[in-house]
Amino acid sequence: MRIVVLGLGYLGATHAACMAELGHEVLGIEVISEKRAQLAAGEVPFYEPGLPDLLKRHIESGRLRVSGSYTEAAEFADVFFIAVGTPQKKGEYSADLSYVNAAVEELVPLLTRDSLILGKSTVPVGTAQALTERADELAKDIVVEIAWNPEFLREGFAVEDTLHPDRIVLGVFPGGNAEEISRQLYSSMIDEEIPFIVTDPPTAELVKTSANAFLATKISFINAIAEVCDAAGADVRAIADAIGYDARIGRRFLNAGLGFGGGCLPKDIRAFMARAGELGAAEALTFLREVDNVNMRRRTRIVELAREVCSGTLLGKRIAILGAAFKPESDDVRDSPALNVAGQIQLQGASVSVYDPKAMDNSRKLFPTLDYATSAIEACGSADAVLLLTEWPEFVNVDPEMLRKVVRQQNIIDGRMCLDRDAWESVGWTYRT
Ligand code: UGA
Repeated sequence: MRIVVLGLGYLGATHAACMAELGHEVLGIEVISEKRAQLAAGEVPFYEPGLPDLLKRHIESGRLRVSGSYTEAAEFADVFFIAVGTPQKKGEYSADLSYVNAAVEELVPLLTRDSLILGKSTVPVGTAQALTERADELAKDIVVEIAWNPEFLREGFAVEDTLHPDRIVLGVFPGGNAEEISRQLYSSMIDEEIPFIVTDPPTAELVKTSANAFLATKISFINAIAEVCDAAGADVRAIADAIGYDARIGRRFLNAGLGFGGGCLPKDIRAFMARAGELGAAEALTFLREVDNVNMRRRTRIVELAREVCSGTLLGKRIAILGAAFKPESDDVRDSPALNVAGQIQLQGASVSVYDPKAMDNSRKLFPTLDYATSAIEACGSADAVLLLTEWPEFVNVDPEMLRKVVRQQNIIDGRMCLDRDAWESVGWTYRT
C-alpha cells in the first residue's frame, strides 16, 4: 500500500522505515530541511540501534522517499500517519498540539480523494474528535476519516518494538474504513497473532497515556520504597527481585534510582494530569502529581547525597558525572535526570565533568557550561565524588580498582543501583545509592 508519514522524528522515521520493511511504499514528510537531507541520504539524525541500516536499505530500494511537500503527500497516498511531536507546553503541564493541528490544517485542504488519517502521536483524550471536526470543515467534497493508532515503541528498541509490538491499538469512529485499511496495513503482524484491539478514539488515546502513566507509576512506586529502605537499612534491589517474581507485579520497570526522564514519560504524565484536571478527574490528577513529585525528588536527593559525601559543601569540589542520556542506548537528553543533576551540582559551586558514550553533542547544546570529558576515566580525574547516573554497560563494568587511581576521594554514588557494592567497597570506595 502507499502511505505517507507526517513528521520524521524518533517516531516518524522509525515508523516510515518499518512500514517500508513491511512492504509498503512510503513517503515521509519532514519540514526541517536539514533533517530531511540527512534522512534522504540514508542517515539517522539520532542514535537508534538498527534504524540506520533499515532506513538506508529502504531509501536505496526506493520504497521509502523523503519530502518536505504536503502537496506531494496529498497526491501520493490516501493513508496518512501523523507522527509529529507533542511536547510539553512552555510553562504549562499540558501538551502542545500545534504540530498535530498544523499537520491537519496543511494536509486536508490539499486532499482531492477520500482519505484516512491515522494518528500515532501521543495526544490528550478528545484530540481525534476535535481533529475530525476540523477536518470536516477543511475537506472539499471528500470524506476525511480520522482514527487513532498509538505507538508504544521504546527508544533504543524502536525498530524491534515497531515491527513486533506487544499489541496494535486502533480507535475508530463508527461508519468508516479505518479498521479495514489498518488490517491490510498491519496484515503481516496480525498473521503473527499480535493482538489487534479495535476500540473508539478516546479509549485508544487513553490506552497510550495510561500505559505511560502506569510505567511511570511503577518507577515512582519502587523509588518510594527505596526511600523507606534507606531509612530502615533494607535492600530495595532485593525487594524488587522478590516482589517481581509475582506475575501480577512483574520485575520490569522496578529499577529504583534516579527515576524517569526522556521525551515521553515526564511530559506524558504531566499532559495527562492537565487533561484529567480539565475533565474534573481530581483523583487522577492528585495521583499523577505525586508520581511526578516522587520522581523529581529523586534528582534533588542525589544532589544532596553528593553534597553529603563531599563533607557538606559542593563549593570548589570536582564532581564526575558518568552518563548524560536519559537512559542507556540512547543519545536523547530531553529531560535527562543525569544532566538535571549535573546542572544543579554546578549551580552549587562544584566543577562538573560529564562523560556519556553517545550523548555528548546533544548535552553540549543543552548545557554548554558543563565540562565534557572524552572518556569515563578522564571525567573522573581528581574527582571528589563520582556519580553514575545512566547505566551504560561501560560504566556498570568499570573497574573500581582502576578508577581508584585517578580520583581524589573514593566516593561513588550509584544513581542507578547497578554496581556491585562489595566490589567497590572492597577496594576502599565509599558506596552510596
Ligand atoms: C517510553 C515507554 O516505555 C514506551 O512504551 C513509549 O512508547 C514511549 O515512552 C513513548 O511514549 O514514546 P522511552 O521514553 O523510550 O519509552 O523510555 P523508557 O524505556 O520507558 O524509560 C523511561 C525512563 O525511565 C528512563 O529515564 C529510564 O532510565 C527510567 N527507568 C526505566 C527507571 O528509572 N527504572 C526502570 O525500572 C525503568
